[in-house]
Amino acid sequence: MTISMATSPQTRLFQNTNLFNHKNKNKNKPFLPLSFKPISIKCATKLDTQHSTTPLHTQSQDRVFNFAAGPATLPENVLLKAQSELYNWRGSGMSVMEMSHRGKEFLSIIQKAESDLRTLLQIPSEYSVLFLQGGATTQFAAVPLNLCTPQDSVDYIVTGSWGDKAFKEAQKYCKPKVIWSGKSEKYTKIPSFDDFEQNPDARFLHICANETIHGVEFKDVNYPNPKNSSGILVADMSSNFCSKPVDVSKFGVIYAGAQKNVGPSGVTIVIIRKDLIGNAQSFTPVMLDYKIHDENNSLYNTPPCYGIYMCGLVFEDLLERGGLKEVEKNNKRKAEILFNAIDESSGFYKCPVEKSVRSLMNVPFTLEKQELEGEFIKEAAKEKMVQLKGHRSVGGMRASIYNAMPLAGVEKLVAFMKDFQAKHA
Ligand SMILES: Cc1ncc(COP(=O)(O)O)c(C=O)c1O
Repeated sequence: MTISMATSPQTRLFQNTNLFNHKNKNKNKPFLPLSFKPISIKCATKLDTQHSTTPLHTQSQDRVFNFAAGPATLPENVLLKAQSELYNWRGSGMSVMEMSHRGKEFLSIIQKAESDLRTLLQIPSEYSVLFLQGGATTQFAAVPLNLCTPQDSVDYIVTGSWGDKAFKEAQKYCKPKVIWSGKSEKYTKIPSFDDFEQNPDARFLHICANETIHGVEFKDVNYPNPKNSSGILVADMSSNFCSKPVDVSKFGVIYAGAQKNVGPSGVTIVIIRKDLIGNAQSFTPVMLDYKIHDENNSLYNTPPCYGIYMCGLVFEDLLERGGLKEVEKNNKRKAEILFNAIDESSGFYKCPVEKSVRSLMNVPFTLEKQELEGEFIKEAAKEKMVQLKGHRSVGGMRASIYNAMPLAGVEKLVAFMKDFQAKHA
């Protein structure tokens, strides 16, 4: 269905609102910036601003399939809902961007976002949920600052670049040790329990649940059991957050940047067992102290309001899709189709990652004929499939297929890969 400016909700948005301002010489005409162009949205589904009714696997003809690793594709119905509420949020007369973070409207938004996230992940009541800023990179410092003294030893399992960065940052605030590293095998593996020895005195054990660049993921069965005296497991879940059910009670801290599965960049979510809050090192900046944020319900300073609102819309959408079990089913299906295409290509495409730990979210692959990689990416872009270039440290290609990537996007990519192979084999 095509929605033109004449009839679309966008038109109504403009008609219902005062677009006149003092710089507008012609007072009878709405002021629009010079660059304004009427929007024509070809929408595969009915737009419903109250409830998202968009089926899972739709894609507007105007949009590309975006395989970026993050910021990444967002659910189309969430974007449309945000668009419909952008100018005047639910009759408040304001955009969410303009609201006081202490006003009742925004409080309702952040509280609903937290409550929906708690429902989605079944977060036990003894855990706090914090909406913070600074990205997961800031948490690389915040975690040791809050959980350790400078003398404490800590264990890091390093399965890729992000785990390595977390370890390096922790060196400033405690005494971390890498107890297992996949570096010598180009980060294509996840260790089994017997592969590493934990320090019984370590304050916590840190993992990166899904390495976005290398495409290796801890599956439920191989989350390591922390054997340190505190029994604390800490996970960076930035790139598989809310992509499947997780038993939160296994973790002391889970942290994640929002910009892969649950929203725009600028929001970082921390889920932390309450008894771990309140022991930050004395020089911890106030913005990194979990106690401050917990006591103030993530409103100590001005939070990333619009980003939190977007995360809330995504949480609502995930619940409407049937929750994380359904989401995981869908993610498994997409990953299976893509990995099968790679594995059944007689070596034309290759994924270096050991099969049992392949990420459902980030699929790195190379071409046997490396010289064709540029052409692959260019031709795919012509077909509206973008951001397929692998990370600069790894090369090749990478398809990130987060929750919001429709099945149709993966099917289209696989069809393209088969065509490309037929042309170039
Ligand atoms: C697994 C993982 N951890 C940490 C980061 C760093 O996140 P940010 O850029 O939000 O600090 C990323 C970014 O892509 C990531 O994928």
